[in-house]
Amino acid sequence: MKNTKNKSAQEILSTLTIDEKIRLLNGVGPWHTYDADKKIPSVMMTDGPHGLRKQEDNQIDINDSAKATCFPTASCIANSWDLDLIKEMSGAIADQALQEGVGIVLGCGMNIKRSPMCGRNFEYFSEDPLLAGSLATAYIDGMQSKNVGTSIKHFACNNQETRRQTSDSIVDERALREIYLRPFEIAVRNVQPTTIMASYNKINGKYTCQNKKIITDILRGEWGFKGTVISDWGAAMSMPDCVKAGLDLAMPDSHGYQIKLLRDAYDKGELTEQEIDRACLKVIEVVLKTTGVKKTTVDYKKAHDLAKKIAANSAVLLKNDGLLPLSKKQKEILVIGQMADDVRIQGGGSSHINAFTSPNVIESLTKKGFKVKYVAGYPGDDVVEQTEPTEIQRMAQEAVVAAKEASDKNIPTLFFCGLTNRTEGEGFDRKDMNLPHEQLSVINKIIEMNKDLIVVLFGGSPFAVPFADNVNAMLHMYLAGEASAEACADLLTGTVNPSGKLSETYPFSENDLPCAGNWGNDSPSVEYRESIFTGYRYYETFDVPVKYEFGYGLSYTKFKYSGLEISSATYNAADADEAIGNVGAACGYGEKLSKSKTNLKVKFTVKNSGKVAGAEVVQLYVKNPASDYIRPVKELRAFTKVYLEPGKSKKITIELDAKAFSLYDVSTQQYIAPTGTYEIEIGSSVKDIKLKKSVKVKGVKYERDDKSKLSSYFRKIKLFTHADFVSLYGKDFPVDLEPTPGTFTIYNSFSEAAKLNKTCKKILDGVIEKIKANNRKLGRSDNDPALKIVIGGLTENPLEGMVLLAGDDFKRNRADFIVNLVNKKRFAALKSLWSKKWD
Ligand code: BGC
Repeated sequence: MKNTKNKSAQEILSTLTIDEKIRLLNGVGPWHTYDADKKIPSVMMTDGPHGLRKQEDNQIDINDSAKATCFPTASCIANSWDLDLIKEMSGAIADQALQEGVGIVLGCGMNIKRSPMCGRNFEYFSEDPLLAGSLATAYIDGMQSKNVGTSIKHFACNNQETRRQTSDSIVDERALREIYLRPFEIAVRNVQPTTIMASYNKINGKYTCQNKKIITDILRGEWGFKGTVISDWGAAMSMPDCVKAGLDLAMPDSHGYQIKLLRDAYDKGELTEQEIDRACLKVIEVVLKTTGVKKTTVDYKKAHDLAKKIAANSAVLLKNDGLLPLSKKQKEILVIGQMADDVRIQGGGSSHINAFTSPNVIESLTKKGFKVKYVAGYPGDDVVEQTEPTEIQRMAQEAVVAAKEASDKNIPTLFFCGLTNRTEGEGFDRKDMNLPHEQLSVINKIIEMNKDLIVVLFGGSPFAVPFADNVNAMLHMYLAGEASAEACADLLTGTVNPSGKLSETYPFSENDLPCAGNWGNDSPSVEYRESIFTGYRYYETFDVPVKYEFGYGLSYTKFKYSGLEISSATYNAADADEAIGNVGAACGYGEKLSKSKTNLKVKFTVKNSGKVAGAEVVQLYVKNPASDYIRPVKELRAFTKVYLEPGKSKKITIELDAKAFSLYDVSTQQYIAPTGTYEIEIGSSVKDIKLKKSVKVKGVKYERDDKSKLSSYFRKIKLFTHADFVSLYGKDFPVDLEPTPGTFTIYNSFSEAAKLNKTCKKILDGVIEKIKANNRKLGRSDNDPALKIVIGGLTENPLEGMVLLAGDDFKRNRADFIVNLVNKKRFAALKSLWSKKWD
């Protein structure tokens, strides 16, 4: 290194030539930053977030990475509502990053769950912004306290995988602020993440990486973000525009393409040196912050035990008619379900961790002293398509016979099922909420003669459980990492008392979703018509029944709530210093509360009135006053988790400030607390309210006549109309049209080209078939999640995105060829194929 020691970022910047500066704005290889001929260190970033996915530059298969501890995924740990545990987990991942020489872990994922069918939901925390923002804050804090950088993602409104690289999320300002940006805002205001990853999609007509309003005005301007903005891999379309909008670093290496675009724009005077310097400084700053940190020695056994502890504290007991925990007297058990043998511990895609070890359920229950009889019941995900229907029937029949025999002999029967890699994963969405057919059909047969079934579920998201009323118990493990099975055995036997609560609503079916009909469609834009009514905000306000509500989860013990006191029956929001406008977590991590002495103090007692030790997630909701403007009936405003020995109680105090009563006022562009009578509700779920008291809030006299304009929202019609949404959105409603011959550009995708042009379709089909054939040669199924991502990347990426990612295999002249072909400019198409311009 050329004596960079003790030099400030600004000093280093001044030593760089304009070419070096431009080069610095694009990565080197898949994971590194540029070292400017050793003038600056180069930092390595790798995927996480629930472990380390460190790849060498030549490892292109997504599943091929260095061994690391596979911790539970975000959707799983979110159910723990345990900030300390999450902090411990990211700290442990940071240790492994340091050992591997990694400076930045690309995580955590923290998008709002708009639909449970988003293929990537397992990487996200919640449908609620306060919960998601607080958990992310804990994750970031744990990692950064070990001097390893984070990259919170995918900023923002990246809420579906369908057309993920091109779709335009049309979100009204209020939903944008209160729901989709807010978790990021909480994290940024509370802990300043090292970097933030700008997502692939467009927001209200503009790619996020080019979206000045999102990156510069809101993120940096309003929230005071000091870190570096990185593009998602291949998301920085038209790099000069991105730099102008505030993006700092485009990843990964575009093999000279983005450098050329930047240099051309600079030469033409379209991009100034100051604009380049601004971005460079941010890259140098992050590199200095995340390199040269001392390695630690990792104790992988300890990390595994931590993964197990977190998994056990995150699983949600959905039903228990008395068979759990398994009686100690029971010696034999019957385990049915291929997933007990081949446990699904994580989701597929760029977050896939190459775990050291992952014991299965049969081994884990045997270790607990049970004599386990195992019957697969249905074929594994990777072979199901090649399995003959007669064989599937035979397997089901074998399970039914075994279940009948177990029932006759009073032997507990456990059924393991869930979503598979074929059904959910990065790069594709689910089409419905059903379990894979082969699993559903066998459980339906079993429950006809064995009503005492204990069902264990795996999956990154809720799925329909039509059998729930006919089984005795249901435990949802989510995707719980390498120690899933051991944690499951601990929970089933009562070694650990379940304490997870759903961080998302569990609806009956996809037809009940607030975004039904307006999500995951094969169309260029996605209208977020439900606006602020995401998750429980919708189900509670519009009285839509759900299978299990937000915040729900059972325990082997009971908790009693008593003695609610609020420090004052009135609250003067206007007295709260700095509270309005600062939307940090009301009680979550960091407790960025107003310093004002006028904060409300909410006090109550929780007692463990049962016979075993356990933990309770205590939730504070604020019920909003009825109004003439749209507002959810109630919102989560604080939460805490208490661990209690049997018979013990704890007095809990939660402080609230004006944020607990606030909404985003679009006309004044700030948070305000409308005057009115609010109710403070303390509950063990959004529906199970144990204590409540009202408080009169003196805030802003807020008048907004939504009532006459937004009839579907107001009359609680469950399907919001396009006309109402346009009216809610206000002026300049962006209209994205499907491309046509003549309007096709490099920002359209190959699949769009294939729809418009036969030759393009032939080329695309041919390439897909070639990729599949190569995959089959490796003995992998066409449903392999890694393959789906590759094919998704090929079909859904804007053509420029493919140029960024494909290197020599797809250069800009080929993209131009496709564009010209679709636009029926055949001669220009041929010319672009021979063009040397982009070599
Ligand atoms: C994913 C990111 C990931 C990146 C690098 C992208 O396709 O969306 O989450 O960090 O690849 O693997």
